[in-house]
Amino acid sequence: MKLKILVTAGDGIGPEVTREAVAVLNEVAALSGHTLSIAEARIGGVAIVQDGTPLPQATIDAALDSNAVLLGAVGGNEFNSLTPDKRPEAGLLGLRAALGGFANLRPAFAFKELAVNSPLRPEIVDGADILFVRELLGGLYFGQPRAWDRAKGEAWNTMRYTRDEVVRVARIAFQLAQKRSKKLTSVDKANVLEVSQLWRATVTEIAAEFPDVTLEHQYVDAMSMHLMNRPRDFDVVLTENLFGDILTDESAVITGSLGMLPSATLGGKVNFYEPVHGSAPDIAGKGLANPLGAIMSGALLLRYSGGLEKEAKVIESSVRKVLEQGFRTTDLVRGDKTGLTVLSTTAMGVKVRETVKTLLA
Ligand code: IPM
Ligand code: MN
Repeated sequence: MKLKILVTAGDGIGPEVTREAVAVLNEVAALSGHTLSIAEARIGGVAIVQDGTPLPQATIDAALDSNAVLLGAVGGNEFNSLTPDKRPEAGLLGLRAALGGFANLRPAFAFKELAVNSPLRPEIVDGADILFVRELLGGLYFGQPRAWDRAKGEAWNTMRYTRDEVVRVARIAFQLAQKRSKKLTSVDKANVLEVSQLWRATVTEIAAEFPDVTLEHQYVDAMSMHLMNRPRDFDVVLTENLFGDILTDESAVITGSLGMLPSATLGGKVNFYEPVHGSAPDIAGKGLANPLGAIMSGALLLRYSGGLEKEAKVIESSVRKVLEQGFRTTDLVRGDKTGLTVLSTTAMGVKVRETVKTLLA
């Protein structure tokens, strides 16, 4: 297998975590006889500074010419006064749109070893295993019209979905549910929003194609509470773009850290992989960032872009083993450190690679 990967490391901790993810991918490839060719391109704040735009055409071209794109993070405080269309985030949204992936898979898995790191009681989170399917190309992020009329003191965004946009992401969520515990929770705000009524009616209609999957609907406000009270009751959770953005950050409370969440965006021309966390400018360059979200995004890349299920599992098992052995980055420590070894970003990457080696030996 030969895979051409474009790495867009971006800003803040993006470069540090993607470096570790790429090193793990290279290790796996070398040991299992696969060839990776890795190219890099600029996106976000670093591209604003060097190219005058958050998304250079060269980055789009290189992305479309690869088998998969691995992103680090974008954003930085120095860009806070820019309008949304000029900010680093616009680069990421533009690349998502250019690649066309609409189904953003965000697994939130609560490792047993990290249960003590959650502010929730261990018996609530231990074993929670949720797969969020966030629609990524619609809703308020992309709906027109949008503007801030400063003179009038008025601003507006548009939450808009077509039936087809809901159908295609719902089918993916149902298919994933069929392969898991055959349970799907669709999240909306159908008691208030027409868009959500379309969403709910469409998801209900698509459910008929998947009679083996049990569908339930939840309102997003109630869901945000249920996720904290009884996370183990949920399996595949389907929702629109902004609700998915919010609920997946909330799910970091279940996993014990935002640094533990990977993602894969499927359905477009080229699949797109990125950790859920942001650029964390406050800890950038200090070796404090947790690379495991990026490393597990690399595992998803092998699974969904390379069809390399075994190799993906090796990475995921290595992450589990490293945690079992008590290795942690600082975000994964809360209170008592007995029996734990706190590692830097690079040292954590090294540990994962060593484990990959023993598993593939
Ligand atoms: C995420 C991020 C992005 C989003 C930002 C950086 C544009 O928060 O991937 O969750 O809102 O989608
Ligand atoms: Mn987010």
